[in-house]
Amino acid sequence: MAYIAVLGHGVVGSGVLEVLTTHTESITKRAKEEIKIKHILDLRDFPDLPYSDLFTKDFQKILNDPDVKIVVEVMGGLHPAYDYVKACLENGKSVVTSNKELVAAKGAELLRIAQENNLNFLFEASVGGGIPIIRPISQCLAANEVTEIAGILNGTTNFILTKMIREQMNFEDALALAQQLGYAERDPSADVEGFDACRKICILASLAFGTHVYPQSVHTEGITKITLQDVDYADVWGGVIKLIGSVKMLENGQVHIMVCPMLVHRGSQLASVDDVFNGIMVRGDATGDVVFYGKGAGKLPTASAVVADVIDCVKHFKARKYLFWEDAKPDYVADFGAVETDVYVRVTGETGDAAFAAAEAIFPGAKRLLAKNPQAGEAGFVVSGLTEAELAAKRALLEKDNVQVLNCIRISDY
Ligand code: HSE
Repeated sequence: MAYIAVLGHGVVGSGVLEVLTTHTESITKRAKEEIKIKHILDLRDFPDLPYSDLFTKDFQKILNDPDVKIVVEVMGGLHPAYDYVKACLENGKSVVTSNKELVAAKGAELLRIAQENNLNFLFEASVGGGIPIIRPISQCLAANEVTEIAGILNGTTNFILTKMIREQMNFEDALALAQQLGYAERDPSADVEGFDACRKICILASLAFGTHVYPQSVHTEGITKITLQDVDYADVWGGVIKLIGSVKMLENGQVHIMVCPMLVHRGSQLASVDDVFNGIMVRGDATGDVVFYGKGAGKLPTASAVVADVIDCVKHFKARKYLFWEDAKPDYVADFGAVETDVYVRVTGETGDAAFAAAEAIFPGAKRLLAKNPQAGEAGFVVSGLTEAELAAKRALLEKDNVQVLNCIRISDY
């Protein structure tokens, strides 16, 4: 019998209970022993559940129980999750978590403590919910040099963008609908401002390239400034707007990593990832592009990944799974200003023609896009091969010419 404890009985925590109780027989076969929950930590009372007797409000009870060899952390947030996970690893208990905030902020440290104590710290559910991505990168693609990862890593924003693209709903209405359907939190700022996707791409980058990238070192833009005019111009250009988290290993050993809305060509696999689905493209030198697709959030998809990690822990009580990355290195993240980009720009001036004429003088080679529903005074164009620093300087020049830049969206090459 393998005893586990679950920290948190929210959406994912209750999903873990559900998966373990509805799939007991097959899980026991796969783990080669029965997995039993001994404690559930939550500050709230749940008096009417069939397993109400398992609840405790006292973390020390779990920490000091020698029967408990695996602790599942599904509380979310950094504190007290970090303190509890660290204490568990320092006290001989392997940990499984779905907490992307924790892994993105403390992954290197917690993996080191797990290694020092010959324990497992597994977090398949922290990126992509039910989509297998941590194990494929660390095991199945281990014979490759991964050169690049790009993904739609946030279901809430992908749902909003899909509604804007497919149904011409504006951002505010699409966000309200996402909240009504329970796809977006009451405070959706981490989603719409790109921070959630940033944590996930940092975890994937750390894993794929072996060095921790902290979210605060990543250029992050969300989708709050995207309008239906941008959606129209993207369509005329030949694609759709997606919130993309991307990381690329550069020849000099630095990584270029960012989260921002991007124009994705209609032919790209990522262009057809719609609604709350996630899609992650991993570029390997031997495999070429491998794409993972599925539900990136939700109770049962996320719980499925958590329970699979628990099974792996049970099967590897004595043999540690190899999962490790070093702590951050100085100058590892490339200077954002030096990175080259292709970009779509939407401007407004006295007239659309005047605005474009001024823009063309500053952005030689700019190609104008003709919107299907043009707005008075506006023009849209694309331009290639600028560094981010050049782009920022040229935007400032345009503003001096009384041309206002309404939006600037990068163009992807996948
Ligand atoms: N709010 C997140 C999303 C949940 O929409 O993807 C999963 O991390």
